[in-house]
Amino acid sequence: MESPYLEGAYAPVDREIEAELVAREGAIPDDVAGSYVRNGPNPRFRAEGGHHWFDGDGMLHAARIADGRVFYRNRWIRTAGFRREEEAGKALWRGLMEPITDNPRPGPGEVPAVYKDTANTDVVAHGGRLLTSWYVSGGAHRVHPETLETEGLDTFGGERPLRLSAHTKVDERTGELFFFDYGPTPPFLQYGVVSPTGTLEHRTTIDLPGPRLPHDMALTENHAILMDLPVFYRPEALKKKKWIVGYHPELPARFGVLPRRGDGASIRWFEAEPCYVYHVVNAWEEDEAIVMIGCRCDEPIPAVDPADGAYARALANLRVTAHLHRWRFDLRTGETTETPLDDLSAEFPVIDTRRTGVRSRYSYHQRIPRARTLIFDGVVKYDTDGGERKVLELGPGQFGSEVAFAPRVGASAEDDGYLFSFVDDRAADRSELWITRAQDLEVVAKCTVPQRVPAGFHACWMGA
Ligand SMILES: [Fe+2]
Repeated sequence: MESPYLEGAYAPVDREIEAELVAREGAIPDDVAGSYVRNGPNPRFRAEGGHHWFDGDGMLHAARIADGRVFYRNRWIRTAGFRREEEAGKALWRGLMEPITDNPRPGPGEVPAVYKDTANTDVVAHGGRLLTSWYVSGGAHRVHPETLETEGLDTFGGERPLRLSAHTKVDERTGELFFFDYGPTPPFLQYGVVSPTGTLEHRTTIDLPGPRLPHDMALTENHAILMDLPVFYRPEALKKKKWIVGYHPELPARFGVLPRRGDGASIRWFEAEPCYVYHVVNAWEEDEAIVMIGCRCDEPIPAVDPADGAYARALANLRVTAHLHRWRFDLRTGETTETPLDDLSAEFPVIDTRRTGVRSRYSYHQRIPRARTLIFDGVVKYDTDGGERKVLELGPGQFGSEVAFAPRVGASAEDDGYLFSFVDDRAADRSELWITRAQDLEVVAKCTVPQRVPAGFHACWMGA
């Protein structure tokens, strides 16, 4: 059986192209300017053995809009591993489902990793460049925002490239970048701050009881929030060099609140009901408390379907269900209060990123249907104050990508702008760029992209 994550909406493309897009329906707005950039896995070579969706080489797909015209471009992120495999003309690394023993060792100037650092997970705008990152912690690749050429691994002013996880946070009001780095050996978690011009200014270790698998962090005006969640490698399997993720619901979820430039030892942990959190919506300070909105998974490790054969565990782990949730960490009492906000499964949340760390009201998520693979069939707009939602149905056989919110030129209301997304039409076997008004979820333009945009991970908006 071939991996379902190499077929249909997930099948990789093999060409890097540029094209001006025209509207098949509607009209391209002329009151928005910037780039929507989406990262995702796109394997250059098929490695031997099982293929996991997370294995593919990172590829960026960008739609740059100005004066009512849109230009599309896609480029692989030219990581060290990608370049070594291009030179060899074949895959040299094997994926997550295979033993690591034969994988190449990283060379000098590369960031140590036992798998190929694909840079395929996240992308943010920082210091006039795009910065890509990888969910298991790896190098930070700088990419030119217009050409999408990879400019190399960032050292942030140091001698060697820095290792960080996906889901760095940029405070667009100060220009600083906040990051965390985690791994299976001590120190299990580090946290740091990079200046607006790209220099590492703060880095500290956060003590954890063992190796953990945090996927995101949160930021408020004065604090960073790090996670110790009860989903981590089973210790008894680790002793046999097997990396099997287990859920440990006898342990609480712990959220650590640390001053932005604080020493790791000063972190304050808040306990909450056990769960997993892939992605935070936003967090902010309010009446000597911290409010954090996120997507909460109450069943982090879904049941395995034996019919999926060798892919059973990999497919089960990607059958994500998550619900909008509010945690409130009281800085006076140390107590946590929790409020479930909705019962619809939706994930990959985004906000107007100018509000990262300050109070926000609207977020935009991908609706997740019950399906064999992780796929998005609608865009959900939330009022996160009360959890009211509005849904944009993509339609039968149409699957979306994480959106990015692009403010309308001259706008002041929080949701006065557009959502950009690539939508894949399975029946027609083609992709489109959809531009949707964020206030009422009306699609204002659908532009045909001359080649498919495979399903992927995270996206960002980089204003002109
Ligand atoms: Fe993520």
